[in-house]
Amino acid sequence: MSLRSAVVTGLGHCLPERIVTNDDLAARLDTSDEWIRTRTGIRQRHIVDTGTSTSDLAVGAGRRALAAAGLTSVGVVIVATTTPDHPCPATAPVVATRLGLVEAPAFDVNAVCSGFLYALATADSMLTSGLYDTALVIGADIFSSFIDPDDRSTAFLFGDGAGAMVLRAGEPGEAGSVLAVELGSDGEMENLILVEDAKSPYTMQGQTVYRHAVARMASSTRSILERVGWSVADVDHFVGHQANQRILDAVAGRLKMDPACVVSNLATVGNTAAASIPIALSEASDEGRLRTGDRVVLAAFGGGATWGAAALTWP
Ligand code: ACO
Repeated sequence: MSLRSAVVTGLGHCLPERIVTNDDLAARLDTSDEWIRTRTGIRQRHIVDTGTSTSDLAVGAGRRALAAAGLTSVGVVIVATTTPDHPCPATAPVVATRLGLVEAPAFDVNAVCSGFLYALATADSMLTSGLYDTALVIGADIFSSFIDPDDRSTAFLFGDGAGAMVLRAGEPGEAGSVLAVELGSDGEMENLILVEDAKSPYTMQGQTVYRHAVARMASSTRSILERVGWSVADVDHFVGHQANQRILDAVAGRLKMDPACVVSNLATVGNTAAASIPIALSEASDEGRLRTGDRVVLAAFGGGATWGAAALTWP
């Protein structure tokens, strides 16, 4: 057993001001608020204006998480994103510099909608190994940049945003500790969710994504529960990747989990890809929904395919 654990010590999120409602989409596409709501639970999403970049959102979320943690420096900065400001270089160094985190090591992780869990696992191992004492982990994506606004089969799914978490090294078992993380991938499913090149729009095999997302998020959750010795009934909050309300409901159904545990902000935010789990956590925390010692499970499925789950207690 490790002598240190990674402990959550601050959260923050940043959403673009502009809101696009289902009715706004229905005004230009052959769709309706009713169709989108019943299929996904989404009522609106926040979309960036031209000129706003992933790093702008990441800096907004990072600044709030650092303030919540009371820190002005960290050991390492990790940005999970599939929509970096540029194909090269990574987005994390400019985010770190803009946050005043002078010369902190900083790099990106791309695991699409599971990206935040991959970044969390990386930070967790860096803190528990003793390499660093603090970490800033950010999930930030502008999926509106991938979407063909005239494609009614995908235009309603995504919103833009960023969520951030600050972690510090602490005592194992301390409230706020990350207890376990597990990750997986299967490149056979490369074509399930695809943006072929900079000129091609996002495409998705919707029903296959639905099936695999439900199966993988449920099996990862079962496996993480087994590793930490919790039953489904022990979980106070389940924060799944906010892809689609029907996916979250189906995962909870498969696990026989009390629906009241399922955290969802899909109605107001939509699917924000790598940002979705930290935004949902940050909003739930702002609403006072999470209490010290609460048992929290995170689970995600994304393009690649990638998936994962994590168990932690609330600080
Ligand atoms: N408005 C109205 N009708 C529509 C729309 C729309 N926006 N989009 C498609 N339709 C129509 C189709 O043309 C089709 O019409 P037809 O029967 O006359 O041919 C009909 O609705 C059914 O289309 P399907 O594609 O079969 O719709 P489905 O019931 O599968 O719902 C959806 C689509 C919501 C995408 C569903 O497959 C789903 O939930 N998939 C999960 C995917 C997901 O959540 N991805 C998130 C991103 S990936 C991730 O984060 C892991």
